[in-house]
Formats: sequence, structure tokens, C-alpha cells
Amino acid sequence: MAATCPPPTFNQRISVELEYPIYFTRDVFETANSTLAEALKRKEATRKHRVLLLVDRGVVDTRPAAWTRKAENYFDRHGLALVDRIVLRGGEAVKNDAAAPQALLAKMHALGLDRHSFVVIVGGGAVLDMAGYVAAVVHRGVRAVRVPTTVLGQADSGMGVKNGVNAFGKKNFVGTFTAPFAVINDSAFLETLGRRDTIAGLAEAIKVALIRDRGFFEWIRAHAPVLSACESSSVQWVVRRSAELHLSHIRTSGDPFELGSARPLDYGHWAAHKLEAMTHHRLRHGEAVSIGIAIDALYSGERGICDAAVADAALDCLASIGLPIWDDALDEIGSDGMPRVLDGIEEFREHLGGDLTLTMLAAVGEGREVHEADRSRMAASIAKLRARAERRGAA
Ligand SMILES: NC(=O)c1ccc[n+]([C@@H]2O[C@H](COP(=O)([O-])OP(=O)(O)OC[C@H]3O[C@@H](n4cnc5c(N)ncnc54)[C@H](O)[C@@H]3O)[C@@H](O)[C@H]2O)c1
Ligand SMILES: [Zn+2]
Repeated sequence: MAATCPPPTFNQRISVELEYPIYFTRDVFETANSTLAEALKRKEATRKHRVLLLVDRGVVDTRPAAWTRKAENYFDRHGLALVDRIVLRGGEAVKNDAAAPQALLAKMHALGLDRHSFVVIVGGGAVLDMAGYVAAVVHRGVRAVRVPTTVLGQADSGMGVKNGVNAFGKKNFVGTFTAPFAVINDSAFLETLGRRDTIAGLAEAIKVALIRDRGFFEWIRAHAPVLSACESSSVQWVVRRSAELHLSHIRTSGDPFELGSARPLDYGHWAAHKLEAMTHHRLRHGEAVSIGIAIDALYSGERGICDAAVADAALDCLASIGLPIWDDALDEIGSDGMPRVLDGIEEFREHLGGDLTLTMLAAVGEGREVHEADRSRMAASIAKLRARAERRGAA
């Protein structure tokens, strides 16, 4: 006889509403620009707010030395108490270095930050992830304001509720779901970003366009030449629409903390995360996502989930913007005789928990969840991709 589950003695139910503003502005540390100051004062206008400023080394290195003084001066002029400024190593290295969060924790302890103090994080997705994680665990959460400085940060990672660091060779193995206090996208930062990082960041916009918004995808496709040249107003428009689509998904999906098994915005990411690890982060996250999108588009075509023409459109768009659709790491063969990258499928499932759920491409602008992956056909899709990339290389 099946055991019946007794009713609970108490049933605890709590609803928490999360709200954070996202501002688009320019020159956030110009004294005349009150966006950041107003964002910090939004809950308590009168108190003297204590702020720790964290800045990505990549940002500091590409700006005139006076920029740092200007940023420091900003807090003074707006009646905010800047307690310290710390420059953090940028890029994936800051998420791979186990000592980095520890050093930041020690610093925040020494400064005596409390739960009403602010951490203003100015940097790329990697710095936002690492520093956002530390801010989320100090006193179980100090207020973090994100100022993303890369295309990827402004179009995707800065918008959401996730942070984290890599450990044991696994992407984002340690982290939390925590909403930021506010997000400020400053377009001026994108002008110092190198071409490689600008193009890489566009992969996340193509990803969300492919699974959510046909019109956006067609716009990107039509503007591939100017995007490939990193033309500023087009890049800014893509950033804005991508940010909007990511925000909309997080708000309306019904699962902002990813308690279920699905993660539609991670289309192409099972392969991307594995490729990042296999290449020891030689590939940028956005570049690995581009290759992941290409594999899953071909696989979707191969399995009849979408028409072959849809997969072709996806691959052509990525390549015409200058994103990679191939990396030789895909040639690595595992002990089972299959491409080693396929181990990323189980690792992806493990990260999410529950049943395997992958998002595939059903049509341009429409994703579809599947719960099994045929490894042989996935390997065939990778072989097809190789041939495709070779043809492009030869063209
Ligand atoms: N939390 C999330 O929801 C989420 C979502 C997507 C991606 N991510 C993560 O984001 C990370 C990738 O972020 P990314 O693409 O921004 O790259 P990145 O943070 O690795 O930065 C790339 C390089 O650009 C430099 N840089 C940053 N801003 C600059 C500027 N304005 N001018 C010149 N150089 C600058 C950095 O120092 C670094 O060397 C990955 O770790 C990825 O896993 C997180
Ligand atoms: Zn991503």
C-alpha cells in the first residue's frame, strides 16, 4: 500500500517582490550626471551612504589616469562617502582564482561594510559575477550596483539575478541568485572595448533573438556589416533590445531562480561552457556561445526540429558578424570515441539538476525544449559544422 504523506504541521509561504531599476546613460561619473547618485539614494535620500567602488582593470587601463580621479570626485560631489576604491583583475581569470573572492571578503570586513553599504561594481561580466557573488554573501547581502562595461555585460549578464565563480574546473559552480540594487548601462564604456570583446558580446544578443524575437534577428542580420565594424549606434541598439528581452524573460518566465530544469536563455550553452573549460578560457564566453549556437542550430535541423534554412540563417548571421562557428577543440575525442565536447551535455544537466532540458531552435525567433540528446546525431552535426567552417575559411 502506498504511504500517504501527512499534512505539514505548519505551511510556510513567503512571497518576496524584487525590483531593481535599469538605467541607460552616458558618462556615469560626470558630476552633472545624477543617475548613479539618485540610484544610490533611492531608498534613503538623506543618509550619508558608504560606497566601495570596484573597477575592472581593463576599464582602468584603457582610460586616461584622470578618469579614476573623476570617479572618486563624483562621490564627494554627490554627498556619498567613498570608503575605498579597488581595481580587480578583469576577464575569466578573476572567476577562476579562488583567492580573489577571499581577498575581497577580507577587504569588506576590514572596511566594516554593513548591509546598507553599497558596492558599486564597474566591469565586464566576469568582474560583475565575482564581485556580485562576494557582495551577496557578505552579511548575507550588501547592496550591489552594477555598472557593466562590456557588450555582454550590458546586453545580458548585468541584467539578471545571477552571480558566481568557477571552481573544480566547472563554470559558475559557486554562486547565488541575488537581485542587484540597480544597474547602470553607460554607453561610453563600450567605446574602449576592443573589437574581439565587442563582437563576442553580440553572440548573446543573437542567441536571445533566435529563440525569442524574429524581427530582432532579421535586424541583426541586415546590419551584420555595420555590427562587424563595431559601429557604435548599431551596437548600442542591439545591447538595448537584448537587455530588454533578457529582462522580460527573467520577469515573465515564472522561474527567475531557475528552480525547474529548464533554462531557455542558455540556448547553445551546454557546448559553450564545455568549450570554455576545454580551451582553458582561450575562447571568450561569447565566442564559445556562438559555436554552441551553431552546433545546436545544425542539430535542430538534423532532428527536424527546425528547417535546414533556419539553421543556415543562424550560422550565416554569426559568421557574417565575425563570430567563430568552429574551434579545433571540437576535434578532441573522448574515451568513448565521441567528441569530448559532448560530455558538456551531462555537466549542463548536473548544473541545473532534474531532467535534461536543452533549448533547441524551432524557427527563427522560437526556441523549443527537448529532453534527450542523440549523441551520434550531435557528433554528425559537429562534423557538418567542421565542413561548413572549412568552406567558409576557403571562401
Ligand atoms: N551572471 C550572468 O547571468 C551571466 C550571463 C552571461 C555571461 N556571464 C559571464 O560573463 C563573463 C563574460 O563577460 P564579458 O564578455 O563581459 O567578458 P569579461 O568580463 O571577461 O571581459 C573581457 C575583457 O574586457 C575587459 N574590459 C571590461 N570592460 C572594458 C572596457 N570598457 N574597455 C576595455 N576593456 C574592458 C576586461 O578586463 C577583460 O579583459 C563570463 O564569465 C560569463 O560566464 C554571466
Ligand atoms: Zn552566456
